[in-house]
Amino acid sequence: MAIHGDPFGARSLVKEQITSAVAAAAIENFREEVLAGLSKSPRQLPCKFFYDERGAQLFQQICDLPEYYITRTEIEILRLHGADMAKALGPQIELIGLGTGAGTKARILLEELRDPLVYVPIDISKEQLEKSSARFREMFPGLQILPVCADYLEPFELPLPRRLSSRSVIYFPGSTIGNFEPEAASEFLARLVELAGDGGGLLIGVDLQKDRHVLERAYNDSAGVTAQFNKNLLARINRELGADFNLNRWRHHAIYNSTEGRIEIYLISDNEQAVHIGAREFQFRAGEEVLTEYSYKHTVPGFIELARDAGFQFVQVWTDDARWFGVFYFTVP
Ligand code: AVI
Repeated sequence: MAIHGDPFGARSLVKEQITSAVAAAAIENFREEVLAGLSKSPRQLPCKFFYDERGAQLFQQICDLPEYYITRTEIEILRLHGADMAKALGPQIELIGLGTGAGTKARILLEELRDPLVYVPIDISKEQLEKSSARFREMFPGLQILPVCADYLEPFELPLPRRLSSRSVIYFPGSTIGNFEPEAASEFLARLVELAGDGGGLLIGVDLQKDRHVLERAYNDSAGVTAQFNKNLLARINRELGADFNLNRWRHHAIYNSTEGRIEIYLISDNEQAVHIGAREFQFRAGEEVLTEYSYKHTVPGFIELARDAGFQFVQVWTDDARWFGVFYFTVP
């Protein structure tokens, strides 16, 4: 449709061209990372590519699985200690939500906060962002909602709010920090120090170390949803990069590495096979593993030290009774 004052629709056309150029660049980047990962020894695929539309749906199902305690436990902590958290964060803040998705946890927090001024949800899914922002506008009429559609792993700009808040607090739930390797986690936390700014804060959900059986059950669920989530990465490579992975010849497996304090997720080749991605051919041995994800489980002191090294000052941590999960609050001194 032509924009008013733009009778030939030239602006829409330019917008469309920009959108398709961005999409083409994203596919190119996906191809490069997949080819590079599969050329490594041992082979790996980056977990950030799990989340296409189907992957996001499957992850949503994982969050509801009886074995996947993470989402449930974090929500329980928020419900129990939300008022206490609100006290620590203070009144009239700007809350910046990183990858907050549908916003279930952010909503619980916002309900507890005293007179929050601005909420900036940052999410890569435009559809999700628009839906949740519309709901939040209805639920919190006095709150300015400024959604930003961006990949928070890349640099992005924060919008300028109408009113000046007392401090910016970044909210990063879901233990997504666990999917970063220690060095990358440290670099990312240092970026969050800059984003929060002087006097700002970080409220972050972190999964904690626990009995290996609890962990391994959570990532090898009996309904096989995590297996579908893992294999969906191969389906995505087939569809977007013209590959010929046969999904029936791959097996999902997750194991806890207690030395490193992390769950390791693999796709295992059932037998010897060749896979083509465009013009490239990859040979896999029977039983060969392709690493698709690390999910680090921290200790309370270990995570405090990680955040301190990045420039944060520890304020408080709230956990469930079993100490399976922690919601940490840090400030920027
Ligand atoms: C998003 N992230 C915190 C999840 C996790 O538990 O590491 C991703 C996931 N992978 C398999 N199950 C869930």
